[in-house]
Parts: sequence; C-alpha cells; structure tokens
Amino acid sequence: MPGKGEVLVEVRDMCKNFGVTVALDHVDMIIRRGEIRGLIGENGSGKSTVSSIIAGIQSATSGEMLYKGKVWKPESALEAGKQGIGMIVQEAGTIPNITVAENLFLGNYGEFKIGPVINKTKMNAAAKAALEGIGIGYVNPAKPAGFYNMEERKLIEIAKTMSGDPELFIVDETTTALSHTGRKILYDLMHKAAESDKAVIFISHDLNELMEHCDTLTVLRDGVIIDNLEKPDFDENDIKHKMVGREIKGNYYRMDQDGFSDQVVLKADCITTMNEILCFDLELHEGEILGIGGLSECGMHELGRALYGLEEVVDGKVVLKGEIEIDSAEKAFKNSIGYVSKNRDQESLDLNASIAANIQSSGYGKNRLFGPFVSERKERIYAKTQVDKLAIKCVDIYQPVRALSGGNKQKVVFGKWIADDADVLILDCPTRGVDIGVKAAMYQLINDMKRKGKSIIMISEEMPELIGMSDRVLILKDGKLSGEFYRSNGFDEHSLIECMI
Ligand SMILES: Nc1ncnc2c1ncn2[C@@H]1O[C@H](COP(=O)(O)OP(=O)(O)OP(=O)(O)O)[C@@H](O)[C@H]1O
Ligand SMILES: [Mg+2]
Repeated sequence: MPGKGEVLVEVRDMCKNFGVTVALDHVDMIIRRGEIRGLIGENGSGKSTVSSIIAGIQSATSGEMLYKGKVWKPESALEAGKQGIGMIVQEAGTIPNITVAENLFLGNYGEFKIGPVINKTKMNAAAKAALEGIGIGYVNPAKPAGFYNMEERKLIEIAKTMSGDPELFIVDETTTALSHTGRKILYDLMHKAAESDKAVIFISHDLNELMEHCDTLTVLRDGVIIDNLEKPDFDENDIKHKMVGREIKGNYYRMDQDGFSDQVVLKADCITTMNEILCFDLELHEGEILGIGGLSECGMHELGRALYGLEEVVDGKVVLKGEIEIDSAEKAFKNSIGYVSKNRDQESLDLNASIAANIQSSGYGKNRLFGPFVSERKERIYAKTQVDKLAIKCVDIYQPVRALSGGNKQKVVFGKWIADDADVLILDCPTRGVDIGVKAAMYQLINDMKRKGKSIIMISEEMPELIGMSDRVLILKDGKLSGEFYRSNGFDEHSLIECMI
C-alpha cells in the first residue's frame, strides 16, 4: 500500500529564515519508502527550501532531520548524494564549459584516477552507461554540457542523479523544462524508484500531473504545512483552496471569441535557421494571440528565438510592420518587440541585480527625465507596479533576483515586458513554474495586451493554455508547419495532438 512503507526521512520542527523572510515555519514531514510525495504551494511557499535542506544544499535555521532512523545533518549535496539523497534542482544544475561526463561525476573524479591522472576513457564510458540508463544514449559524454539545449541539460542532470541510485529522489519543478518525451522519461524513473521501495519528492505547479503521479500531497503556504492528503482524497478545488487560502474556481482562460485585425504586424518569410526551422512562413496580426505548439524537437523554441533575432536566420527574413527587418535582438528591442525566454536564468535575467533593475531594464526610454538622465521616481513606480500586479513575493524591489523563488523570478521576466508595453510580445512558456493564482493574473494581462491591439506569440507546451488563450494555433513538426487552427472554429484537442505526432 503506497504511503505505508517504512519511514525513510523525517523532518521535525524545521525553521528557515533568510533575514526577515521566514521561508519555513515549524515544518514536520514524514516521507516513507514506496511513496511519491507531491509538494504543492504558491510561489515562495517553501517547497524548494525544505527539499534543498533535506538534500544538503543548505542548512536549516533550527529543527532536526532523521534519515533511515539516524540523525541527518548533511554538510553538502555531494555528501547527501553519496548517502542516497539526490535532487534535481529547479534552476540550471549543469556547468556549461566542462564536459557532460565531468558534470556527471563532479566531485567524484577519484573513482577514475590512475595515480594523479583522471582516466577520461573510463569516465566517459561510465557516463555513457549512466546516460543510456535513462534512455538518452545519444548524448555524447565528451562534449561540453553547454553544447546541449536546456531540456537535454536537464536530462543530463537526471542521469547524474540517477547514477547515484538514490533512495530518496527529489524532483524540483523539472517537468516544465522538459517536453513530452522528457516528461515520460522522468515519470517512469519516479515510478520505478517508488516500486523498488525507494521514495520520491515531486514538486510541480501542475495539479493534474501531481494528482496523477503522487500517492500523497503536502500543501504548503507561507512556509507552513497546511495539509497532507492521500490519493483517494485528492480533489482539485479543495487543493487549490488549501494552497491559496481562498476559493479559486474553474476556468481562468479567456472566455471571449473576439477576433483580430487583418493588419500583419510581424512576418516571417520562408525563414530557415541553422538547426531546426525550414522555410517557415508566419504572419502575426494586430490584436492577435498566436499560439505555437508541438512536441520536443519540433523547433518551436528556436522559432521564437529566430523571430526575436536571437537565432541566425540563414535564409528568408523576419519583417516588422512591412519594412523593418529584424536580424538582431537589439533591433527587435528597439522596435518594441519583447521576448520572454524559456531559459530565464541565462537569457532573461541578471540574477545578481535587483528586481527593480531587472524590470527597469526595459524602460529606459519611458523613464527618462532629459538627456541620459532617468527619473528615479518614475523608475520606482515602473518596477513597483509590476511587483504589485504579479504579487512578486519579495522583501522589497531592491532585493537581488537571486534571492527569489523560481516562480517569482519568472514573474520578474514577465513583468519586465508587460511594463514595457511592447507592440509585439514573443512569450516562450511564459507561465513556467508559476502558481495557479498568478497564472490567472498573467492570462489576464496577456488578454489586456490583445485588447490594446498588441500582438502576442505564445509558445507553449501546455495544451490547455494554447487552447484557452489563442486566437489561432500553429502546430510545428520537424521545423515545419503541420497544422493551423482557429478559435472561431472551436479548437479540438485531438486534431491538434494528431498534427504534433
Ligand atoms: N537565498 C535566499 N535569500 C533570501 N530569500 C530566499 C532565498 N531562498 C529562498 N528565499 C525565500 O524563501 C521563500 C521560500 O522560497 P522557495 O524557493 O522555497 O519557494 P518555492 O515554494 O520553491 O517557490 P516556487 O514555486 O516559486 O519555486 C521565498 O520567500 C524566497 O524569496
Ligand atoms: Mg521552488
């Protein structure tokens, strides 16, 4: 019976403070062998904090932990890994300029040493086995990790953690970095671990995914455990209510059927990129929300990058308002195009800078006083407005973005472009890692942009979001268009999926 195995980890009366922020407030938790435990809670509720303390990444302010019946006080993630607790962290966990194999065995090179020298052949072979073990044998262990895209790097991290054969496998908000294939790999690993009497902690904002895969769910709010629920008692509305402390009902997508103008704002004319896109045509209209979907490797993320001038277009061109060719991100930005990257930490944020500085970076023009001087007051309002609108959980707007929880970082990126009031917004997985309450606010803001006549491209891996928000949906397959659907005709989920596969 799931959830009834022997106790593997116990957390007792744990508190964690960051200055004035109380991240965990007297948390008790028991994880048993054989269970997949889901953690759910709003952005900043303490999910990553409690997990990373169990995994030795940081230490608690007070409280204690037991692992296999003994006091558990890991000094580092490496030590925790060696003892059988491995975690896939929410942020990027690979180092780009060392090889895949070196990433896999970081801190464990000793195993491969002959005298003072590391036997690379042996290490690469061991890495190959670990990669094959999770079904990604196509990754070359001798290549630098940075050679691979974000999803592949996440899979490399998964291989790394699994190679330690952990007794407790912690997965923090990983699925949003993965496509359908990657998710399948991860779910299989989680279930296999639970079946072999190990345990899994699974963090996600996708309630359906949690209800499907978990045996138990722990709801956190503001660092406090609100409830623990067993699978037979899972109820979507009840869980949402417990998460946010108020009723969140039904549909938060747009309900209207309003159309868009004929005016073409952004046009891709038979564009081809180095890797994935082949002679692709696209027309984005004024006041249109254009959804773009597909499976992994379909090229949709690359398409977004190409439209913003981040990806070299080797043939064809991207043209704004019939006259301006967009061939660099600088030009896109100058011409009022905004872009939310799927890879937020590397491409969309300056982690060491403050929330204010990150949001303000899109608003120099608007907040100018005269000459090169900006109005500090205007800038403050510019940033504060977004922090309030999106309920960014922070001490104040001058806190570094690094100190924010994953979902709150995502809100900063989104806020930066909403504040900019750009004419064209290219959003690549904009609601990634964001809790349901804020998702609703983001959808509202996207719809407000549409109503103002702005044009939005929304690349997404979430079918409900594509169907719920788009005026038109393009489905990509192998870098080419495989289907086009209109809201006015009613979207049929099955037809969309059929075009993807
Ligand atoms: N290094 C840090 N410095 C300051 N505050 C921090 C730090 N790490 C986390 N916090 C704060 O602790 C609280 C809990 O954060 P945590 O990352 O655990 O949230 P979470 O539940 O994982 O959220 P999300 O769903 O957005 O990932 C937040 O208020 C966050 O801002
Ligand atoms: Mg988190």
